Amino acid sequence: MSYSKIDLSGAVVAITGGAQGIGRATAEAFAARGAVVAVGDLDDVLAKETAATYGGTGYALDVTDPDAYAAFLENVENQHGPLDILVNNAGVMPNGGFLELDARTDRMTIEINLFGVLHGMRLALPGMLERGRGHIVNVASLAGKFPVKGLATYNASKFAVVGLTAATRLEYADRGVSITAVLPSAVDTALASGLDMKPIPKVKASDIADAVVGSVASRKGEIAAPGYVGALANAATLTPEPAMKLIRRLMRDDRALLPDSDERKAYRARLELE
Ligand SMILES: NC(=O)c1ccc[n+]([C@@H]2O[C@H](COP(=O)([O-])OP(=O)(O)OC[C@H]3O[C@@H](n4cnc5c(N)ncnc54)[C@H](O)[C@@H]3O)[C@@H](O)[C@H]2O)c1
Repeated sequence: MSYSKIDLSGAVVAITGGAQGIGRATAEAFAARGAVVAVGDLDDVLAKETAATYGGTGYALDVTDPDAYAAFLENVENQHGPLDILVNNAGVMPNGGFLELDARTDRMTIEINLFGVLHGMRLALPGMLERGRGHIVNVASLAGKFPVKGLATYNASKFAVVGLTAATRLEYADRGVSITAVLPSAVDTALASGLDMKPIPKVKASDIADAVVGSVASRKGEIAAPGYVGALANAATLTPEPAMKLIRRLMRDDRALLPDSDERKAYRARLELE
């Protein structure tokens, strides 16, 4: 599989959910390497404000709305030229017992975490394929490989993104466009705030940004960050259920089911508005 090189200097990069967290760190990392960066976010005020700090542009975007997504990419291409790299990053993570969360929350999670990615790929791929050049990064999660009590619908959305990425990657491999899934473990951002995910380490958003930027050169299919947590998640799939049950009990794997801390309540209140 060979892809034509994308030089980061001058590359046109669009990032969803780029106002804060991993999206913002990724935007900063690309901008630091000379890329032309455009971020879209529900919070367009914050997107514009933060983009100004690294010479990028910010736009209002709701990834669940394909027309809004199309307008975002059209604006980016009109202003900066053909898209080289798309980072589908916007996401939400409501936690709680499966039956305690309602159908509205299920729908929101799937609409943002899965349909947001589908819309972005449907819109960006045709131009990239026509040019025979491009790279798409879908920010999934290790929760796309490893089930967690209290994150069932989130797990479902991320397992779906991992599968979508792997299948489309195969389909377009010979046409110059690479598609990569980045799988973060727990990251120190609003999305995971107030959630005790121990013993899974909480890494920095900039660590995930480095993995996303690194994928432009490596074009790997799946990149876990940190890598060793990815290896553990893969090993877990080969471990017999009784052994995993014991390991999970020792890990105290029901932390996402615990009552909300104040910090978690604040994140949940923000989701109520979405
Ligand atoms: N933080 C973690 O522990 C962690 C772990 C694994 C994977 N991830 C994934 O990383 C991605 C980024 O998460 P984060 O931790 O930076 O979260 P975050 O909450 O810090 O930032 C998410 C951003 O996405 C935006 N957003 C939400 N819904 C949107 C929509 N409909 N349209 C456009 N923008 C929208 C928000 O406004 C926010 O700016 C998500 O896909 C998440 O699932 C995060």
